[in-house]
Amino acid sequence: MVVANRLPVDVSLGEDGEPTWTRSPGGLVTALAPVMAQADGAWVGWGGSPDLTLDPFEVDGTQLVPVTLSADDVERYYEGFSNDTLWPLYHDVIAPPAFHRQWWEAYRRVNRRFAEAAAAQAARGATVWVHDYQLQLVPALLRELRPDLRIGYFHHIPFPPLEIFAQLPWRKAVVEGLLGADLIGFQRGGDAANFVRVVRRLTDLTTRGQVVTITDEHGRTERHVRAAAFPISIDSAAFDALARTDAVQERAVEIRHELGNPTILLLGVDRLDYTKGIRHRIKAYGELLQDGRLSPSETTLVQVASPSRENVGAYAQLRDEVELLVGRINGDFGQVGHAPVQYLHQSFPMEEMAALYLAADVMLVTALRDGMNLVAKEYAAARSDDRGALVLGEFTGAADELAGAILVNPHDIDGMKDAITYAAHLDPREARKRMRRLRRRVLGHDVNAWSREFLAVLTAVPQRDSHV
Ligand code: F6P
Repeated sequence: MVVANRLPVDVSLGEDGEPTWTRSPGGLVTALAPVMAQADGAWVGWGGSPDLTLDPFEVDGTQLVPVTLSADDVERYYEGFSNDTLWPLYHDVIAPPAFHRQWWEAYRRVNRRFAEAAAAQAARGATVWVHDYQLQLVPALLRELRPDLRIGYFHHIPFPPLEIFAQLPWRKAVVEGLLGADLIGFQRGGDAANFVRVVRRLTDLTTRGQVVTITDEHGRTERHVRAAAFPISIDSAAFDALARTDAVQERAVEIRHELGNPTILLLGVDRLDYTKGIRHRIKAYGELLQDGRLSPSETTLVQVASPSRENVGAYAQLRDEVELLVGRINGDFGQVGHAPVQYLHQSFPMEEMAALYLAADVMLVTALRDGMNLVAKEYAAARSDDRGALVLGEFTGAADELAGAILVNPHDIDGMKDAITYAAHLDPREARKRMRRLRRRVLGHDVNAWSREFLAVLTAVPQRDSHV
């Protein structure tokens, strides 16, 4: 059973009162949907709209169990504590986190609701896999309700260093919540190490390597919790196959044509989020046009920025800043019939994404901080022609894995300008060599390998009391 903030689909009620759905945004669903499509399991999560109460239903063979969030829960638990406290705190405080006691109360309340929904659904002795920072209290709450379950937790975003995490007024409760799991997975070894250090400093528990020993009130060992890195991936073969279809190949040619066949096509694809470094990237591009290192008439940057968390102030502000910057660059360097930045504040289906990846000469994934970043992996999976170049921010989880990318420090605008120029004029032989390395990694370690590895470690945990 999977427990995640979102169901794999966003549900809304049609005029006839019947639920209709579209795919949910974000990397978590991209990764987990194909895993669950092959498993005989249930998925507990929110349908994406406030005050929606629905009976469980089935999509693509997965039983979906909706959890209801009121408008107040959405505001305080989702937009507030999850995305205006934890999100900025866990991403290097790029934006200042807000600490509000009412948001924390809502987070506790909603985490309990998810734990209760999972406890009511799970078969005896089942394996439950809890996901991400919105639900860090669920492992301990669930263990209390159902000590027979095996509980895994995977953290999709970075886990910060102690010095940052310790700012959280409720830090101890969060750590205790996570320690309810048998296995806690992180994207990178560095995240797991940060977590273990936090446990050592904020609790009296003993740790050995990455294993934490949980004791009862008499100091007797109760169980062990393992923290480890399991870098997430995508359904690489499916993406590779999609990008090879005639329809996608033809669409890629069409996209270039519609853009006026630029000599150099640069591409950015992100949720519109301040962690993604969109402003820094566009600024670097604008300066390259200004300096004459890239020609405005021969170059196009397509920036897909899919709408995200629009009720959170920092996101609304970012949108204004990005749109101002895009407008300036197009105003200064555009010509009739040609804008050097094509900015698309929209979400697109996978087929269109694959065509964009194929059309692009250079993919820019220059997040300031990112747990993994699956766009980088999708780009490599799409490029069976061994062409194209990936410029990748050092502070993404993907940078730990993807040798073959051109790495940049996204805060260093001059360095980024050099890297973009280098990538745009990459020698085809070097491009091929780099892309082959990227593809070897992405195709060799897909999302099924990720879940297999995580679940193999989790199911090796000895079964506990099953008399519930
Ligand atoms: O991977 C991080 C994450 O927050 C996921 O948990 C989430 O599904 C995705 O990004 C998209 O964010 P949201 O659910 O807030 O739209």
